[in-house]
Amino acid sequence: MTESVLVTRALVPEAMRALDGRCELDLYEGPPEAIPRDELLRRAAGKDGLLTLLTEKVDAELLDAAGPQLKIVANHAVGFDNIDVPACTQRGVLVTNTPDVLTEATADLAWALILASVRRVAEGDRFLRSRQPWVWGPSMMLGHDMSRKTLGIAGCGRIGGAVARRATGFGMRLIYHDPIRLPSDVEQSLGLAWVEFDTLLAESDIISIHAPLTPDTRHLFDADAFAKMKPTAVLVNTARGPIVDEPALAEALRSGQIFAAGLDVYEREPAVEEALLDLDNVTLLPHLGSATIETRTAMGLLTVENLLAGLADRRPPSLLNPEALSRR
Ligand code: GLV
Repeated sequence: MTESVLVTRALVPEAMRALDGRCELDLYEGPPEAIPRDELLRRAAGKDGLLTLLTEKVDAELLDAAGPQLKIVANHAVGFDNIDVPACTQRGVLVTNTPDVLTEATADLAWALILASVRRVAEGDRFLRSRQPWVWGPSMMLGHDMSRKTLGIAGCGRIGGAVARRATGFGMRLIYHDPIRLPSDVEQSLGLAWVEFDTLLAESDIISIHAPLTPDTRHLFDADAFAKMKPTAVLVNTARGPIVDEPALAEALRSGQIFAAGLDVYEREPAVEEALLDLDNVTLLPHLGSATIETRTAMGLLTVENLLAGLADRRPPSLLNPEALSRR
């Protein structure tokens, strides 16, 4: 019997080819927006597997709509805040994500935003495109030096560590805050010092966020946090939007409480806080962290590998809830 699978958006061609003939495929090919919720509930019914993106909320309602035959939810993302993992575990549904394969690409993009924010790259590009007259000037569009500055990593897992590794060439001091301290040999090899969150806020010239979205990290960066940062500081977020209170960030940027920000993710994604769109000291990207050909291919293939393993009652390589195995 062929297992049936709902894929909520076409993956890169290599990954779609890896699915060919391996299951009965129901692919959402609607408009560019995410699959509407009512359609998701309807098309999930009777499926053995769901291949979801971060845009789909996988909760008890969806699991019930799918039915008791559902074996696996394979998420095409490393973050899984869109999935109610305990609800899946309770029903014996396996959940997988795509760790490791996107670490380097996401760290690269964090650095792209760091440099763009510190050196006003996107603002300079917009300025030239506005066709205003200009001439080189000693005080024109000044940013800040990188060298001898302090880079603060908020949340230091795989991606935070990769961001820290890239700082070596810039001659920076590196500090991090994470509720779980890294082993001291890892701290030493990355040149990272653990600090309290308030110290991270007060001492960092650049803060790059690499924490998962959880109830503890929601609005971790709010008006209080911005008040503790340096007026020359830059905030970069390539993790999840709701970790930053967007209206409070817009106000901190507008009033000069902090120097600049670089965002790849948004609180109410895909919506972007209107006040940010009018500010020159914020660089905005449409969630491109893992968006390289190589990385999206690896993510797609890993998602398919996870999915097919779950459908075949084998243990998927990136299983998040092994406890679900004993409930099937
Ligand atoms: C992207 O944001 C991911 O979690 O993979």
